[in-house]
Amino acid sequence: MKILMVCLGNICRSPLAQGILEEKCKTHDLSWEIDSAGTSSYHNGERPDSRSIDIALENGIDISSQRSRQVLVNDFQEYDLIIAMDRSNLNNLSSMTSSDQQISKLKLMMSFADKNAADVPDPYYNNGFSTVFQMINSACDALIKSYQRGEVLSSKN
Ligand code: 4NP
Repeated sequence: MKILMVCLGNICRSPLAQGILEEKCKTHDLSWEIDSAGTSSYHNGERPDSRSIDIALENGIDISSQRSRQVLVNDFQEYDLIIAMDRSNLNNLSSMTSSDQQISKLKLMMSFADKNAADVPDPYYNNGFSTVFQMINSACDALIKSYQRGEVLSSKN
């Protein structure tokens, strides 16, 4: 299964989501391919925000080799799941789709953990990286459980 994590800048939230899910794939022996991207090109080519790098390292995950890139129209063909960190990015992603099949690939990160699906808040100006880490961590746990129950694209490993 190929999963793309998406936020606005691809330097704070989605790099954490990529790193956290990659780590969980190792422990659950899942051969998924995870990448991340931003709906904006503001930070193209940049490494993750140092606050994201630090909170990941505190939790034993190294995301420092990631580089920001913008979402491409082609990503809707390449990936099985495209997971937005908040509704604003989900709406922007929706406007890039060209079929019902592509729309069905779009998910909100917190929808895996919580039926009321909160947004993962943008920490860029406000901090809150620890909260963001915990939210994404619990949503990734829930994503894997949901996959194991056969609710998420169970035919694709
Ligand atoms: P992210 O956070 O979407 O979680 O990467 C942001 C990073 C940069 C900006 C906004 C949000 N910015 O406006 O530059």
